[in-house]
Amino acid sequence: MSRNAAEWSQRPSLAPTHYVDPRIYTDEALFVEEREKIFKKVWSVVCHESEVPNAYDYRRCQHMSGKELLVVRGKDMKICTFYNHCSHRGNLLAMEPSGTAKRITCMFHQWAYDTKGNCVEITRQKEGYQDRISKKDMGLREVKTEVGLGGFVWVNVDDNCGPLKDFIGDTLDYLKDELSTKPLEIISYHKSVVNSNYKLWYDTNSELYHDFLHHHNRKIALIQPGYWERRVHTHDYGHISVDSMECRYDAYEGNDGQQRQLGWPGGEVACHKLIDMFPTMTFILRSPAFRLDTMVPLGPDKVIIEFRGFAIKGDSAKDRDARVRDHNSIWGPFGRNLPEDEIAIVGQMMAMKNGDDSTYILHGREEPSIQNEIGMRHYYGEWSKWMERPASDPFGNRAIAAAE
Ligand code: FES
Ligand SMILES: [Fe+2]
Repeated sequence: MSRNAAEWSQRPSLAPTHYVDPRIYTDEALFVEEREKIFKKVWSVVCHESEVPNAYDYRRCQHMSGKELLVVRGKDMKICTFYNHCSHRGNLLAMEPSGTAKRITCMFHQWAYDTKGNCVEITRQKEGYQDRISKKDMGLREVKTEVGLGGFVWVNVDDNCGPLKDFIGDTLDYLKDELSTKPLEIISYHKSVVNSNYKLWYDTNSELYHDFLHHHNRKIALIQPGYWERRVHTHDYGHISVDSMECRYDAYEGNDGQQRQLGWPGGEVACHKLIDMFPTMTFILRSPAFRLDTMVPLGPDKVIIEFRGFAIKGDSAKDRDARVRDHNSIWGPFGRNLPEDEIAIVGQMMAMKNGDDSTYILHGREEPSIQNEIGMRHYYGEWSKWMERPASDPFGNRAIAAAE
């Protein structure tokens, strides 16, 4: 039966942990608050060490807080991160995505900085500033940086943040062997600017109920043995991991009846291991390829999703070809998987936008299988803590639903 306006705005008869208010995806003020309370406080991956493989290499990155960053490898091979922001008059220091330089010179008035963030040149310093300004006080703003398991470059723009190891906890143990047996190397990078809320992308990475959306997933996984026995596991800080299975690539007509033959060092052939980390990251190993999603939210209804694909450093040419082909056929911009998810979350945003009268988005499945929506409930429990607001009623002005 269809519903009238009053019925449409009623909340479901589920516990408030089992749905969220659509305004958490659409409200401008909440987005600004997320930036202050979450994005500027938590650890996140901004790139991989193989994107700055040699001394003096740098990589421009955009932090989820919106801040431009510069990841730099020094002569001592240590990786540091700075605001990509000239101390003189705030120009972007590096404009190209990546490069190599012993000193980085601002194109505007030619102030220069070394790989440790020291200011090493102030143009016509004596003539203009006499002794009023010194190079030692004009260094770049450094950002806390750690290279973690697998060579991922983690940063936190909060100087008073807790340790990275506490934030990760035991979450990445699930991929410990795969991330530590041999070094990873980036093989693919693309980004999408998607007209949707960043959390909707995270949702679609953490709820597997939508496997029905993907013809490819249905064939290789959903109808195969082991799919329904998989479980979602929760970790501290809102992170989750999802059990693996053997995917049957030979069941998909586009694969010419071929099962994947190449595995991943420390892992299984044709596995499917998934980790989602609060608030914007997803690691997926579908051997023989590995993918990392990170996000830069631009507003409540716009997000940059960065997709990185990885292979193994030192792969034979044959293995590298197989990993690249496998990665791109599923996860490339024209792959069999990503575009379908992007269409789905854009559709959600189009329907929800400015839709204050719709009062909930369901996260209530408790099916004892991989399609349990515990991953989203765990995420929004964490979001509510950081935001100091319940995701089911962020403004405290909705009638509370009757708990089951
Ligand atoms: S803004 Fe960089 S040198 Fe002037
Ligand atoms: Fe999907």
